[in-house]
Amino acid sequence: MNFTTAQSNLFDPAATGVAVAPAPAMIKLTDIEKVYQTKTIETVALNRVNLTINKGEFVSIMGPSGCGKSTLLSIIGLLDEPSSGQVEIAGRPVTSYSDKELAGLRNQKIGFVFQSYHLINDLSVLDNVELPLLYRRSVSGQERRQRAHAALDKVGLSARTSHFPSQLSGGQRQRVAIARALAGNPELILADEPTGNLDSVMGEEIMDLLLHLNRHEGVTIVMVTHDEHQAQKTERVIRFFDGSQVS
Ligand SMILES: Nc1ncnc2c1ncn2[C@@H]1O[C@H](COP(=O)(O)OP(=O)(O)OP(=O)(O)O)[C@@H](O)[C@H]1O
Ligand SMILES: [Mg+2]
Repeated sequence: MNFTTAQSNLFDPAATGVAVAPAPAMIKLTDIEKVYQTKTIETVALNRVNLTINKGEFVSIMGPSGCGKSTLLSIIGLLDEPSSGQVEIAGRPVTSYSDKELAGLRNQKIGFVFQSYHLINDLSVLDNVELPLLYRRSVSGQERRQRAHAALDKVGLSARTSHFPSQLSGGQRQRVAIARALAGNPELILADEPTGNLDSVMGEEIMDLLLHLNRHEGVTIVMVTHDEHQAQKTERVIRFFDGSQVS
């Protein structure tokens, strides 16, 4: 199998060879349960969740602390496995993908953005954005640099490439984190409270940036937020309570 070709089409239903109409969802979760078992307590973090994410959507996920939002993002992002239930990608259960294909999806098709940015303080802005591309053997040093510059341009930080994270505002740091996700050309961005550490003005800026990426760059976005105002700007709001979807 030509892995590179197959992998680059994994989110493209037409390329799966399955003639289905309508096109399968990018991600489909069926009856997902996630139970965390520690010595003293069993926590049902997700309780029979059914959820479909289609290509091009911007979906927000809301709900009180501890209701399972981050757990859900980890499962959608293939960072964690459910205790039971099925995850399908482009119409195929994840169990039918090889480990290599799944690693390819995780690393190349999905970008992650977190509340606390997760930048490396000892690296410049440019080096932070380039870092994930270092793990892709197919990307040359020159291309890496070009892609990092292009991503920083998209988030409006071309003038800050040699700054260090400590020299930036919170909003700018989050832009760097978004550029780092974008440099990999992801089809799906999973953002866990991306504006949670920002004041409302900076939060709005980040939200506008995400909306722009969704509308003009075609990136599918799933965002956890506590901010009703921001959630209302997205196409669909999914609400959770105690591990269950309530609307
Ligand atoms: N690794 C783990 N081991 C045990 N329990 C866990 C683990 N991760 C999460 N939990 C529990 O699962 C539940 C859901 O956690 P999760 O982090 O998904 O919530 P959340 O909705 O993202 O909350 P917040 O809004 O505070 O970020 C919580 O009760 C949490 O304590
Ligand atoms: Mg969380």
